[in-house]
Amino acid sequence: MHDDTVSNSTFLSASLQELYPVPGRKPLEGLYLCNDLRRCLSGGGACVYSNFIASLDGRIAIASGAGGQLQVPQATTNPRDWRLFLELLAAADAILVSGRYLRELDQSAAQALPPLEGELPDDLAAYRKQAGLPEVPALVVVSNSLDFPLDRLADYRRRPVLVATGAGAGDDGVRRLDREGIDVVRAGRSRVDGKDLVDALEKQGLKLVYSIAGPGVLHTLLEAGMLRRLYLTTVLRLLSGTHYATMARGEPLEPARDFSLSALYLDDHGPDGVQQLLQVYDRRD
Ligand SMILES: NC(=O)c1ccc[n+]([C@@H]2O[C@H](COP(=O)([O-])OP(=O)(O)OC[C@H]3O[C@@H](n4cnc5c(N)ncnc54)[C@H](OP(=O)(O)O)[C@@H]3O)[C@@H](O)[C@H]2O)c1
Repeated sequence: MHDDTVSNSTFLSASLQELYPVPGRKPLEGLYLCNDLRRCLSGGGACVYSNFIASLDGRIAIASGAGGQLQVPQATTNPRDWRLFLELLAAADAILVSGRYLRELDQSAAQALPPLEGELPDDLAAYRKQAGLPEVPALVVVSNSLDFPLDRLADYRRRPVLVATGAGAGDDGVRRLDREGIDVVRAGRSRVDGKDLVDALEKQGLKLVYSIAGPGVLHTLLEAGMLRRLYLTTVLRLLSGTHYATMARGEPLEPARDFSLSALYLDDHGPDGVQQLLQVYDRRD
């Protein structure tokens, strides 16, 4: 076994502290693993969840300057959060990414994911198999410009790929995707509407949907009342900066969208040993 694998698995084996609802120690591995999430489908409808990692001052991404590319700060990323990210991915029928993510991936400015590149860890692949799920989730690209490279999608084509766009998107872009045999769904008038999107996915049997996109897509989901659960890792570091993104961006949400705390964990093994809080929030209906 490679040294990195040894240290990584040792690192992942450290437990964390549950603070709410039931205080006590818990293993990291398996914390988010899915049973609970698939149970949220028992009501019959679709269930959309998302996950962010942020600094204590709320930065999910920082750019080096005006007009620079936003990137998840290295000061927050860490293998324990990544493991939980993958656990959430392992549960999903579909993952939502943005058109911008594909553009950034093409410029090597974004991290490639197991469905697009690499494999899920063995235990998560086994989980999907046992649950009767396809090897990886379907990939859903949310985009209005339809301006993204198709090479990566071509690699992904052994799995279902869908592009969701608004009625305002140009026909040329749709025809380009058609020619490549990529399904396009018009889900919304000018831009993608969160409800139309979730309805369209549900019709295709994609009910448990994990949004790994950023602030624009989260706003689209929140606006339509479609976000059921939010996972948030807060790394207890302040980063400041002048060009940054927070979790949601768009017109003010009126009324505000409310959530309740469902679980809270304290992890002593964040980046460089800095603590991080793992929070699970559910929509307050
Ligand atoms: N720290 C974290 O946990 C975290 C999580 C996610 C993302 N991020 C970071 O945040 C930054 C932005 O990520 P992102 O690009 O995924 O963010 P995003 O703001 O969700 O995506 C923006 C793009 O999504 C498409 N889009 C969004 N809403 C749409 C709608 N209603 N209808 C049609 N298209 C819509 C558009 O694509 P087109 O331009 O193609 O039309 C738009 O340019 C990146 O640096 C990323 O790494 C951080």
